[in-house]
Amino acid sequence: MQILFIGDIFGSPGRKIVRDHLAHVVETHKIDLLIANAENAAGGFGLTPSIAEDLFALGCDVLTTGNHVWDKREIIEYFNSVNGDPKSKARRVLRPANFSPNAPGIGFYQGVTNKGQQYAVINLQGRVFMHNTDDPFRKADELLAQITSKVILVDFHAEATSEKIALGWYLDGRVTAVLGTHTHVPTADNRVLPKGTAYQTDVGMTGPYDSVIGVQKEQVLHRFLTGLPGRFEAAKDDPRFCAVVIQCDEATGRAHSIQRLMLGE
Ligand SMILES: [Fe+2]
Repeated sequence: MQILFIGDIFGSPGRKIVRDHLAHVVETHKIDLLIANAENAAGGFGLTPSIAEDLFALGCDVLTTGNHVWDKREIIEYFNSVNGDPKSKARRVLRPANFSPNAPGIGFYQGVTNKGQQYAVINLQGRVFMHNTDDPFRKADELLAQITSKVILVDFHAEATSEKIALGWYLDGRVTAVLGTHTHVPTADNRVLPKGTAYQTDVGMTGPYDSVIGVQKEQVLHRFLTGLPGRFEAAKDDPRFCAVVIQCDEATGRAHSIQRLMLGE
């Protein structure tokens, strides 16, 4: 089974480079399952229902998010629109599972690909240098006790490399892949851990690299140099498509390989 995971899609440059590259990447790698982190797909901050539906129309099966999930308030109504309907498209947008149980939305999804392959996606958020959430390690245990699919992808939206690497080891052999998002810089540590879990600390941003992690560099420099608050807007130039392709055994869920992709214009 071939799985494509696209790293943090950032603003309209990120969405455009996805549109430009997705069809040939899916065809070249014979992709069965497509997951993307879309928490910054709307102007660099949050995700709107219409952008989520555009990404589903392009072929995404599941969208994950993170700390920016609430930036566009419409997402709350979109989550609430699921109302127990497992076929609702909104059910395939996840927010981190270790958020408050009272928050709208759900942090995992179990589905079946067009070829009939079962899979699950879990979205978790780190706690180091990030706002308070429940323990992602214990939340993973809790979810794995109820998930029946063998193929399980984890998007760990976290700041600290140590916390991400630790979760990779903790889940080795229990999930197909632990993929880091949030820091927007792809790391060169893609590998399959000894018990069969594909791992990469950060998949990297799919968005404008002529920026500071997606934001216009002048605005970020102004903030660092003066300490004054100011607007942050999505940059535009040097868009890149960052993703990983994971090949796994659908019967056992074990990963065989994880390959990094970075494509420019
Ligand atoms: Fe984030």
